[in-house]
Amino acid sequence: MTLKSTSSETTSAGSKAHTPANIDALRTVGVVGAGQMGGGIAQVLAQSGVNVVLSDVNPEGLKKALLTMDRSLGKLFEKGKLSEHPPAVLGRVKTTTSLSDLAGCDLVIEAVNESEELKTRIFKELDAVLPPHALLASNTSSLPITRLASTTKRADKFIGMHFMNPVPIMELVEIIRGHSTSDETYELTRSLAEKMGKKTVCSQDFPGFIVNRILMPMINEAFYTLMEGIASPADIDAGMKLGTNQPMGPLTLADFIGLDTCLAIMKVLHEGLGDSKYRPCPLLRKYVEAGHLGRKTGRGVYAY
Ligand code: CAA
Repeated sequence: MTLKSTSSETTSAGSKAHTPANIDALRTVGVVGAGQMGGGIAQVLAQSGVNVVLSDVNPEGLKKALLTMDRSLGKLFEKGKLSEHPPAVLGRVKTTTSLSDLAGCDLVIEAVNESEELKTRIFKELDAVLPPHALLASNTSSLPITRLASTTKRADKFIGMHFMNPVPIMELVEIIRGHSTSDETYELTRSLAEKMGKKTVCSQDFPGFIVNRILMPMINEAFYTLMEGIASPADIDAGMKLGTNQPMGPLTLADFIGLDTCLAIMKVLHEGLGDSKYRPCPLLRKYVEAGHLGRKTGRGVYAY
């Protein structure tokens, strides 16, 4: 498929973040997967002046991602949080349904579903079409970076770049170094995240990294607290929100993230760390089996 630009304007966005000289090596960045995460990553890259090629097998998904970006950019512009006009930002985003159109990218960030088989297939294909200098990053929330990297011939140029949802709003990017990730790859990735206006933390490659290693057991425990009849969902959430200064309670947050995602991450922690303290709560499993996955299905712990 031919690359399509959404606008002809190509003005650069200003960035206050410190950007070392070698960041110029990352002129064009590919994003694979135009879902909530991929679309958000593409948007924030474009906001920071980077040319983006957004790829997805589904043309409808690409259209939807552009509409979502347009809405989000509009909100940010209205509030004065974005100085550039949204069409100019969107002008830096090209879309494609073919991975071969990413051949000119200096870095590709993969943000497809949490399927190791799918991710591996995509990385193998990218490894074959990308130039030798190009970096590969995965937005996986829990799969081992070292294992994904080992399916390519550029493990030194492979890294984890874990964005938080919603990407345009959340400040953090968790950077995960695989066993063979080079210092240069790490520095470039960190500089890019900073150029995108994000703060970074660095994690070694162990199940759940930093954020999900700590967040998911708390959410899982909230489900045990509910299952054991200790308190109602509203009281569990109010207890944690008002008692520990969290912006929302763990069950509300679980509905926001998606209960299927929470369950999948708990399974990775349980399997990867081999400790029974990470066993997924049966009530969390039950919600997922019922198809009550949270906000996205209109029903999770709460009804929306
Ligand atoms: N683009 C631009 N602006 C957005 C936006 C987007 N995508 N989403 C929300 N906003 C803005 C809204 O316009 C609004 O701005 P104002 O306050 O200036 O009016 C503000 O954000 C709040 O939005 P809303 O009032 O619509 O809704 P809300 O009060 O529910 O807040 C939220 C939205 C800030 C995203 C809030 O729901 C929240 O904090 N959610 C939890 C986020 C979180 O913890 N994410 C991390 C999850 S863990 C993870 O991602 C890792 C993993 O691997 C699972």
